[in-house]
Amino acid sequence: MRFTTLAGLATLAASAAAELTPITIRGNAFFSGNSRFYVRGVDYQPGGASDPKDPLADTAICGRDIPAMKELGLNAVRVYIVDSAADHDECMKMLDDAGIYLILDVNTPFHSITRDNPSLSYNEVYLQHVFGTMDVFSKYPNLMAYFAGNEVVDNENNTAAATYVKATVRDMKAYQKARKLRAIPVGYSAADVAQNRQLIAEYMNSGTKEERVDFHAFNDYSWCGSASSFQISGYDQKVKNYTGYGIPTFLSEFGCNLNPPRTFTEIESIYHTNMTGVFSGGLVFEWSQEPNNYGLVQVSKDLKTIDTLVDYDNLKTMYENVPNPTGDGGATLTDGSASECPSKIPGAWDAECTLPNMPQKAEVYFNSGAGKALGLDGPSNQWTEPSGTGTSDTPATSTSSSSSSPNAAPLPMPSVNLMAITSIASIIFTGFLGGLAVFL
Ligand SMILES: *[C@@H]1O[C@H](CO)[C@@H](O)[C@H](O)[C@H]1NC(C)=O
Ligand SMILES: *[C@@H]1O[C@H](CO)[C@@H](O)[C@H](O)[C@H]1NC(C)=O
Ligand SMILES: *[C@@H]1O[C@H](CO)[C@@H](O)[C@H](O)[C@H]1NC(C)=O
Repeated sequence: MRFTTLAGLATLAASAAAELTPITIRGNAFFSGNSRFYVRGVDYQPGGASDPKDPLADTAICGRDIPAMKELGLNAVRVYIVDSAADHDECMKMLDDAGIYLILDVNTPFHSITRDNPSLSYNEVYLQHVFGTMDVFSKYPNLMAYFAGNEVVDNENNTAAATYVKATVRDMKAYQKARKLRAIPVGYSAADVAQNRQLIAEYMNSGTKEERVDFHAFNDYSWCGSASSFQISGYDQKVKNYTGYGIPTFLSEFGCNLNPPRTFTEIESIYHTNMTGVFSGGLVFEWSQEPNNYGLVQVSKDLKTIDTLVDYDNLKTMYENVPNPTGDGGATLTDGSASECPSKIPGAWDAECTLPNMPQKAEVYFNSGAGKALGLDGPSNQWTEPSGTGTSDTPATSTSSSSSSPNAAPLPMPSVNLMAITSIASIIFTGFLGGLAVFL
């Protein structure tokens, strides 16, 4: 099927004023009013991770895609990068009219906690970016949740970065309170690294209510093709591991593409009571066809039209055939308790249970706001270490040094979506070990 921009714009013109109900959290589940809410979503980054664009700043793009998203039966999209200086009103309204919530990553290629020097990147420039993004997005009723980070920890040797992501989570929650913004849930999207996926889930949900994530999600490519199953994929083990986890969790990326075309048989398990007691659905990777071959739709060269691909049709059929469970789907609706903060493990886990203080220079934002959202053109927080100028408010724990100046051009794509690399790595890893049983 072919969709064009005009269809979306026509929908916008005709739309009524109804607004989606903001999503809330009860126990380990999301709710829309009194109904349990399961994410039936996709990851939306036309242009791919290598050429990221804000798809919600351009009605020619979102207007082209949203009617096809609605047709597919989606209720959520995740966007990895937005330009906080741009206007998102029309695209957000089109999403709302289509019944679609936004799950938003607050980072960009120029604004993120870096793996290589996390303490230095946790600075007032970063928090100005994050808070400014929240200022402009929190007004939308269909903003479901924020990701404070995506796959920042992607290995055993960069787990220290989790400390600064969690500090950011704490600061985002505090900023919402201080500025009386709607309390939009804040979470983290973890890489599927077998060595630390359990540790990071516990870590993010440990500590005081003020510093814990509101929900936790992870990217997962373990269900490959229709020969897989609830057991073969290891989903059953993940259900076991997350049973008793006090907050909602969902798959922030899924859809292994080793056996194309994808048939998405995992939908039968994800929205089955086998999983819904602890999982709240997931996001299929990804909307548009990019070189790594995970697309549901093909965008034309002139960007004006999209054609749905066979994966789109297969996913649509699965969504249509697999309803959500009735009632609360087996969720635990009482307030969950915190997890225990994992102790350090030499060479494998290095995140701090005591978080660093917020950079002093960022405190002013709590009283007078973060100021103008500067978007992609704003200064980068990815400073390299200043040579003894002491301009960083963070403790001098970092060791790497370089000759470039503060606010130098960012290192290549530090902690935004590196999904392509990660998933290929995990696929190779899986292949090497000759099976998921071993991988898990
Ligand atoms: C961390 O490990 C990865 C892969 O094992 C390696 O490529 C990378 O250089 C390591 N980073 C550091 C800082 O040691
Ligand atoms: C389940 O948790 C254990 C530690 O409690 C961990 O070793 C294992 O890798 C986890 N399994 C999965 C599938 O996440
Ligand atoms: C649900 O779990 C049972 C028992 O583990 C399994 O036999 C069945 O295939 C699962 N069904 C789905 C749809 O995951």
